Amino acid sequence: MTQILVLFYSRTGHVASLAEAIATGIENAGCEAKLRTVPAFSPCYAEPSGDQFENEDGYLFATKDDLRDCHGLALGSPSRFGTMAAPLKGFLETTSDLWLSGEMIDKPAGVFASASSLHGGHEAVLQSMLTPLLHHGMVVMGCPYSDPGLAAIEGGGTPYGPTHLDANALRQHEREMAVRLGQRLAKWSRYD
Ligand SMILES: Cc1cc2nc3c(=O)[nH]c(=O)nc-3n(C[C@H](O)[C@H](O)[C@H](O)COP(=O)(O)O)c2cc1C
Repeated sequence: MTQILVLFYSRTGHVASLAEAIATGIENAGCEAKLRTVPAFSPCYAEPSGDQFENEDGYLFATKDDLRDCHGLALGSPSRFGTMAAPLKGFLETTSDLWLSGEMIDKPAGVFASASSLHGGHEAVLQSMLTPLLHHGMVVMGCPYSDPGLAAIEGGGTPYGPTHLDANALRQHEREMAVRLGQRLAKWSRYD
């Protein structure tokens, strides 16, 4: 079955909510969604110790095999001073071997994010995640302007990928944009 990795970092649950919505879109389209996270930052990034397999919310930690095995990828992060969170960047910096072998080339990918302020870097954090995916040779996709969520006048949502502006729950259009990114990734990952 076509498998899409939904890899994210989330401290307070907002990015995790978007990840779950993307997974719903992937599964609605008949593919398998594999939700994975990364451990919280340590100054010198280390693989989780042998007995640590999941975070406090029960999301399993990603391995590089998850990247190798997936047919497509959704990558998500909170805005941290307008760029991706260090734990996610730390994990990506362990993937030089995949870059050298070219194993990620031509796999479809999309990005998603959450931020606490309207001008706190929605597009900037997404672009910070797109750059390493392009270096890996992935085929990146965002949210086309046919998506009605882009016309919303409050909350998140960008052509670079779905975003959430901190609130108790995802706004309807934010959730729908995330679901549609999942569906879109599923559609293109099937051509693997
Ligand atoms: C160190 C730090 C830096 C942050 N920088 C920004 C920022 O630049 N812009 C912004 O809007 N929010 C910023 N935030 C807030 C988070 O991006 C925001 O609360 C996000 O929704 C959290 O996602 P999560 O619930 O998945 O952890 C920052 C938070 C932290 C802890």
